Amino acid sequence: MRLKEKVALVMGAGSAGPGWGNGKACAVHFAREGASVACFDLDAKAAEETADIIRSEGGQAIAVTGDAAKSADVKAATDACVASFGRIDLLHNNVGIVINGGVVELSEEQWDRAFDINLKSCYLAMKHAIPVMLEQGGGSIVNVSSISSLAYLGTPYVSYYTTKAAMNHMTKVTAAQYASKQIRVNAVLPGLMDTPMAKLSAMKNHGVTEAGLDEAWRKRVGRIPMGWMGDAWDVAKAATFLASDDARFITGVCLTVDGGMTLSH
Ligand SMILES: NC(=O)c1ccc[n+]([C@@H]2O[C@H](COP(=O)([O-])OP(=O)(O)OC[C@H]3O[C@@H](n4cnc5c(N)ncnc54)[C@H](O)[C@@H]3O)[C@@H](O)[C@H]2O)c1
Repeated sequence: MRLKEKVALVMGAGSAGPGWGNGKACAVHFAREGASVACFDLDAKAAEETADIIRSEGGQAIAVTGDAAKSADVKAATDACVASFGRIDLLHNNVGIVINGGVVELSEEQWDRAFDINLKSCYLAMKHAIPVMLEQGGGSIVNVSSISSLAYLGTPYVSYYTTKAAMNHMTKVTAAQYASKQIRVNAVLPGLMDTPMAKLSAMKNHGVTEAGLDEAWRKRVGRIPMGWMGDAWDVAKAATFLASDDARFITGVCLTVDGGMTLSH
């Protein structure tokens, strides 16, 4: 119960497909560790499903629908969280999409869309949640970045690499600015994870067919020094640690959760 009596706002708390995406697992894990959770997602059904799972396990949760790239929707989410649970101790920024393409192939619209969804969403959530945390006397923010922020991984999705690298720096400078106010800001950098979103992305961006998924997953595992692929629960456990008082003296950290993959890149 490391998050006992804490209140979490999870941005992107649904899952792209059946099973456990990072955001969904984080929301449920926070609740299992004692937090009340506001589950925010663009997809109303997905947000409701995550909130339902939490409530079915005896936890407290609300579902909030909106676009994380729209300021009014994000403000409505922070307001809904405070209205239901009185505070925001933990803000978890999980919203993120992959758009294939390097600088030549990518359209300007795609570039802007990636920046809106991956980066502006994080800025907006911190913009609206930090004033609540300041009033409370502190809080913790966990931004879900990616090891794509650190190196080229072999696929040309320049907007993804770039938005995640910017997210790391936004994490550090915001951590520096708010350290004296007891607001900690950290990032989790997942590696190659076994999630529904990763499978959908393999099919959409890498031409992998459903029948070819097993083979593609074997190749993916071959790139990971530990020899197996982590899943959404590995991200959830890292995020829970960073969000909890166990990490009370840790701020501005970019924590890789990647089975050692970045050691050889
Ligand atoms: N799965 C991986 O292998 C992997 C690896 C590295 C980093 N990540 C990062 O993890 C995060 C997402 O992982 P996931 O498994 O939860 O993905 P997911 O796609 O399953 O879940 C993301 C959720 O965000 C929601 N969402 C998308 N756009 C939104 C918007 N504009 N407003 C509100 N909600 C929106 C989606 O509806 C979805 O429910 C991303 O930030 C991604 O970059 C994933």
